[in-house]
Amino acid sequence: MTQRTEAAGSVALKDGRTVTIRPLMEQDRAALANFGMGLPKNDLLYLEDDFQNPEIIARLINANAAENWRQVVAVTDEGSIVAYSGALRMPGWSYHVANIRLIVDRGWRRSGLGMYMAQAIVDAARELGATKVTVDMQVALTAGQAIFSHLGFAVEGQLARHAIDRDGNLHDIVIMSAFVRV
Ligand SMILES: CC(C)(COP(=O)(O)OP(=O)(O)OC[C@H]1O[C@@H](n2cnc3c(N)ncnc32)[C@H](O)[C@@H]1OP(=O)(O)O)[C@@H](O)C(=O)NCCC(=O)NCCS
Repeated sequence: MTQRTEAAGSVALKDGRTVTIRPLMEQDRAALANFGMGLPKNDLLYLEDDFQNPEIIARLINANAAENWRQVVAVTDEGSIVAYSGALRMPGWSYHVANIRLIVDRGWRRSGLGMYMAQAIVDAARELGATKVTVDMQVALTAGQAIFSHLGFAVEGQLARHAIDRDGNLHDIVIMSAFVRV
């Protein structure tokens, strides 16, 4: 795992814009729903969570204080959410493992925000007590694989036709992981 860097708080992106990276809060419901509504169909097809489903938004917001869950968002000066990441600690014998998710708004990509968010959520997973972090995504999500390799994650394996998208098509999943320093 690459070294720990301070990724929370106000950060300046490569394109000069700034955002605040902080935990998801109860009052973020509308902003999180807007973030979901702004995601293009292509993203929605490839993501596990349906950010356009009000029940999913409610579940994420309600989990803001959950013991086994950490969620981090990037917020603009105007209060819009432009990136989301979550770390969910696994139950049972994998209780030392946290599974993470990450998504950046299209208009905010390739400026370093994904990297800040990934570092912030790995830090949050560590605070949860996780010593291993995993991320799984459809094989087609090459940017996702690139960013996590950049952070020191390695591919652990692939699951064939393991995800079904909103159009009913099956996709292979790649699982990446890293061991974090406590
Ligand atoms: C993956 C994702 C989070 C990256 O966000 P981002 O803000 O664009 O990432 P960054 O700007 O911090 O990029 C960091 C590095 O990742 C790699 N990377 C990011 N996007 C890439 C792309 N489209 N192609 C190739 N490499 C890419 C590059 O090495 C990049 O560094 P560089 O810009 O200096 O070359 C974003 O593309 C996204 O939300 N994708 C859809 C959801 C997803 O795949 N999530 C991951 C699995 S849960």
